[in-house]
This record gives sequence, structure tokens and C-alpha cells, in this order.
Amino acid sequence: MPAFNTRIQQALAQRSQQGLSRSIRIIDDGNSAQLKNGSAGYINFSSNDYLGLASDKSLTKAWQHGLDKYGNGSGASPLVTGFSSAHQQLEETLCDWLGFDRAILFSSGFSANQALLFSLLEKDDVLLQDKLNHASLMEAGMLSPAVMKRFRHNDVNNLTSLMSDNALVVTEGVFSMDGDMAPLADIYAVTNGKGWLAVDDAHGIGVLGKQGQGSCAAAGIQPEILVVTFGKAFGLSGAAIMCSEQVGDYLTQFARHHVYSTAMPPSQAVALCHAASMIQTQQWRRDKLAELSEYYHRLLSDIEGYQTTETPIKPFIIGSSDKAVAVAEQLKSAGIWLTAIRPPTVPNGSARLRITLTAEHQFHHIDKLAEQLKQAVKG
Ligand SMILES: Cc1ncc(COP(=O)(O)O)c(C=O)c1O
Repeated sequence: MPAFNTRIQQALAQRSQQGLSRSIRIIDDGNSAQLKNGSAGYINFSSNDYLGLASDKSLTKAWQHGLDKYGNGSGASPLVTGFSSAHQQLEETLCDWLGFDRAILFSSGFSANQALLFSLLEKDDVLLQDKLNHASLMEAGMLSPAVMKRFRHNDVNNLTSLMSDNALVVTEGVFSMDGDMAPLADIYAVTNGKGWLAVDDAHGIGVLGKQGQGSCAAAGIQPEILVVTFGKAFGLSGAAIMCSEQVGDYLTQFARHHVYSTAMPPSQAVALCHAASMIQTQQWRRDKLAELSEYYHRLLSDIEGYQTTETPIKPFIIGSSDKAVAVAEQLKSAGIWLTAIRPPTVPNGSARLRITLTAEHQFHHIDKLAEQLKQAVKG
């Protein structure tokens, strides 16, 4: 019997014994503040749709308009025939808004991060990553020929002690599981003139900074590389690496996830342009998030496990994986949808509920969350 069977069986059995098995649930209508699962309804505190665009009707219309104009798929990779005027328009929109020369498009943030590290790094290069960076960055770093070192989370002194000439430093702008922000101005001061800084702003773009320009704009810096993803505040999917003209040319030659992968449908690029415009002009969505965040703080800050953040990601630390699952289940039975996040996604002993706010939430949703969470944590 091939070794694969035994290996797979063992890995699955181990996950299950550790109480860490993951499973996919089928969700009907999961992309707004009210989630439907079969006939049951829930308040959804689990999405990354921070600005409430995933179910926005004007965005749907923009996508439909793109479909009418360009048809369905792109039909090829960008360097063959898959790159349309819609893709070009999206690149220009992103460059104008975020202040970079080039935007190289990808079908996901995961592939953008992997493409970046695999194409930039060579043997003997030094890659310095925040310990809590996303799996896509960690995995690419480990598989790349560079020497990868991790610095303690948001610890600029530790980064400084590891810094060497020509190092590539990579951090998230807003950390996905903790909702805290990287000290970008300090990190930039460490890298400036010595190495390069790449910021993955999957959770900051659209949410932070003037016109939603993200974490770097909010911190007043411009890193050499900025990765923005479209599956969160944009309400869609895909990603772009923002960079200089020359790095853009380089990625066009060597970023295999870009070169050898079907371009996103042009209709999606049309929708993304529309989303970018909504993000820039609809400040009320960020204002609403700020009000909800303030309300959340007022109602939940005295419950054990509460963490303060300045972003819509509100981790609620439970500790043990079993308890986190039990609390999530109890909340579910009360009509609140929350996902328990367990190791290995987060460090051992820090299983949590990852509570996220979106501009679509209402204050009474947070009233109910606070009331039910208090009971569930006690129980
Ligand atoms: C920080 C960060 N980077 C990258 C990604 C991957 O983005 P995508 O979902 O577009 O593949 C995620 C996804 O959750 C993320 O949280």
C-alpha cells in the first residue's frame, strides 16, 4: 500500500485526538451581517467584509455591467490574452489611489504573497518576518532559498537586532487573528536605506487611513512593496502587489503565480474598480465602524477575554480549544455566528473567538453579542 494512505490516516487521527479537526460548513447567504444556514438565521460576527460591500447591490450591478461588456472568464493568463482594458483600468485605479507606479494583479492574496517571496528571494538573502505573519508568507519564506528569521511580534528592538544589509522585512499592517497594528513607522525606520519593507495590508486596506488607503498611509510611510487583497474590505476576491515600475517589470517576468495563472475575469476587475471608488468616497462606512467599535468597547470591555483593538478585528481570548468551541456553539444556539480559532492557526493556549465588526452591523447586534457572550463565558 502506498505510504500516502497511512500518512493521511495518521494525520487525520492526530488532528481529531487533539480536538483540532476542521470541517467545512455549507452556509446560505453568508456574506452579510445576517447569515442564513438552512432555515436558521444568525447575526454574523465572522466575516472579513469590514465595509459591508460583499452584498452591496451597486457592486453587484457593476459586476453585471462588466459581464455584459466582457463576457465570462478572461480566457488566458495575463501575458497571453487574459489582460483586458478592465484589468488595466484596475491597475491604474489602484496606483492613483495608493501612490505606487505599478499594481500586479493576482487571483488571491495567498498567491500574491507566495509569488512575491519566491520571485524576490535568492540563496543567502535574509528574510525577517513578524512571528504572527499569515501562513502564506510563512510557508513561502520557509520554502524560499533565503535564510528566514522571525522577529517577536511587533517588537522593533528584536527586529533591529536581527536586521542586516539587504534584508527583506515582511509584516502585516493589521494582524488577522489579533486585530492589532504593526508599528510601521518604527519598522520602516529600521529598514530604510538598509533593506526593503513589504507590508501585507489584507486587513488594513479600505479600513484605515484617509480614503481607506490603509495601514501604511495611516502610519505615514511608503514601503517598497505593499500587498493589498480584495477578499476583505473590497467585498470581492483577488489581490495586487503595489510596487515601483522596475519591480513591476520584474514580477511580470518572474512571478510565476502571475505569469502562469489565468487572469481574474475582466468583469471582476470592473467590479473591483467600482469597489475601490466606493471605498475612497464612502467615508461613512469607516465612521460607522468606528461607532460600532466604540459601542463594542463600552459593552464588552469588562468581560474576561476582551481585547482592545483599533480595528474591526476583535479577538476574544478563551484559552483552551475545547472551551472556545463550546462557547462558539452556545452562541450559535443563541443565534450568533462566531468561529472558534484554534491552534495551529493561533499559538497554543490562546484559542479565541475572532469577532469581526462590519459597517452593516447594528447596535442591537452588539447588545445581543454582549449579553450572550457574558452567559456563555460563565457557563
Ligand atoms: C494577512 C493575510 N494575508 C493574506 C491572506 C490571503 O488572502 P486571500 O484570502 O485573498 O488568499 C489573508 C487571508 O485571510 C490574510 O489574512
